[in-house]
Amino acid sequence: MIIIGLSNSRNLAKKVAQKLKVKYSRLDSQFFPDGEVYLRFKDSVRGKKVVLIQSMQPKTNDALIEMLFASATAKDLGAKKVILVAPYLNYMRQDKRFKPGECISNEIVAKFIDDYVDQVMVVDPHLHRDKSLSVFFKIKSTKLTANPLIAKYIKKNIKNPLLIGPDWESYKWARATAEMIGAESVILKKKRYSGRRVKVYFGEKIDVKGKNAVLVDDMISTGGTLLRTIEHLKKLGLKKFTAIAVHGVFSEGALQKLQKVGTKVITVNTIENPTAKLDISPIIAEALKQKGL
Ligand code: R5P
Repeated sequence: MIIIGLSNSRNLAKKVAQKLKVKYSRLDSQFFPDGEVYLRFKDSVRGKKVVLIQSMQPKTNDALIEMLFASATAKDLGAKKVILVAPYLNYMRQDKRFKPGECISNEIVAKFIDDYVDQVMVVDPHLHRDKSLSVFFKIKSTKLTANPLIAKYIKKNIKNPLLIGPDWESYKWARATAEMIGAESVILKKKRYSGRRVKVYFGEKIDVKGKNAVLVDDMISTGGTLLRTIEHLKKLGLKKFTAIAVHGVFSEGALQKLQKVGTKVITVNTIENPTAKLDISPIIAEALKQKGL
């Protein structure tokens, strides 16, 4: 087996290779001035199982094309099997036709991956209406979660935590991690009006006395969801917050906006950025081992 990190996940891929004690190979990947991608494998992949690790953020569309070109090329060069590890998989939230004429993006991305890859592993995919990756992937798919890392961080660093999930589906992260460490949790309700505008509600009365608020979600994009949640929590007298998300997408200055309202932000290195203090590489390495890859 050889492990190859694409543009967005080279550091992570090297860590996975080290943990598994398998060869890490470099892929020469460059973008031409007009935006087209150029790829060249540096080692032979003929007859080998090739693990490509690529987060689909930042530069989400470039990242997807780079990965598809890399897997198609690996096959063309005689790879026995191509396994994609997508620490962050994009387009998962557009999973139905909300308005007539819309593209169902997650199905199209899955179809591209089905066509070029033999097996896929995704860390904390945003599965909303679909319960499992197998609903839209035909190839073998595995869902991994960073929840144990989040639980361990909170247990070690935060006294009397109250875990707050900002919308009903965040229970998969907020409630699940709270249960792992025996902490309290509360799940709020959210109404989304657009990609940027959301309204967050408390469905129940919450007691924050003596508690440290820890907001837990799968991803932070514009930060709108967490900022609205923090506005409510401030009304209850809380001043400082920790926000922990798996995927730190941070569009439109989201990180700075959160820090400005007194939030310490921690994410996982499914997307490489300065807040990515939690390392998913042991979980990916273990999954590859367990699957006999
Ligand atoms: C959506 O349901 C997700 O779980 C996140 O809450 C959401 O994508 C975060 O987006 P934003 O930071 O733009 O509010």
